Amino acid sequence: MTRKITASLYMTLDGRGGFPKYLGSDRPSTNEPNEFWREFWFNRFDDVTTVIMGRRSFVGHRRVWTEKARKKGDPQFMWDYSRYLDKVDKVCLSHRLKSPGWENSRIMKGDLSKIVAKLKGEKGGNIIAEGGPRLIQEFMRQRLADDYMLIVQPVVWGQGPHYWGPMKEQLTLKLLSSKVLEDGELLLHYETVRKKLSKRDLQGS
Ligand SMILES: NC(=O)c1ccc[n+]([C@@H]2O[C@H](COP(=O)([O-])OP(=O)(O)OC[C@H]3O[C@@H](n4cnc5c(N)ncnc54)[C@H](OP(=O)(O)O)[C@@H]3O)[C@@H](O)[C@H]2O)c1
Repeated sequence: MTRKITASLYMTLDGRGGFPKYLGSDRPSTNEPNEFWREFWFNRFDDVTTVIMGRRSFVGHRRVWTEKARKKGDPQFMWDYSRYLDKVDKVCLSHRLKSPGWENSRIMKGDLSKIVAKLKGEKGGNIIAEGGPRLIQEFMRQRLADDYMLIVQPVVWGQGPHYWGPMKEQLTLKLLSSKVLEDGELLLHYETVRKKLSKRDLQGS
């Protein structure tokens, strides 16, 4: 079975990556993750054995999402996710980092399409490209992801890194599912359309 690569994007309405505040976003955490968490992280990792991150996101995750970084009193789901991230095979893309400084991690660099081909050729389950926005843009420009899991937060933020930039060619996607989450975020699941579209496809028949 080929390993599927899913690119993850959580973004504001104006296409910025981050965690601004909005109605419901500051609800105190219980041991159960909220719907955003469940849909975007928890429910998606069962068949994922490799997580790819750009250097900036990798370093950010290494600071916050290890078991060592957990504090007494953190909700159970944070412990579970941190343990999962410690264990999973992690690929950090970087020219600058010499050593990853996080267990089960490796550094890769160069042409993203070659990196993706190499990872797809390795044994393992599915792969998630977990950000940040710069890396995801490169996935979109080169059409390297098989599908996209996208959360749109109900905020026009006006700050933070952009997901969208110039493209050589349009990326065409097919909507597989959509769902409105409890705090008004929109969860969208798209698949990459790789075939050349015929007139019939474009007319929707
Ligand atoms: N899922 C997420 O993690 C996520 C989502 C949304 C927003 N954010 C926010 O976005 C920020 C980081 O996102 P970002 O878009 O600025 O950076 P990023 O994508 O996390 O990292 C960019 C870096 O990745 C390395 N890189 C990318 N492609 C490479 C390649 N083919 N070969 C070698 N290195 C490669 C380069 O590092 P070198 O400079 O080392 O070469 C580049 O500077 C954080 O502040 C975070 O809070 C994160």
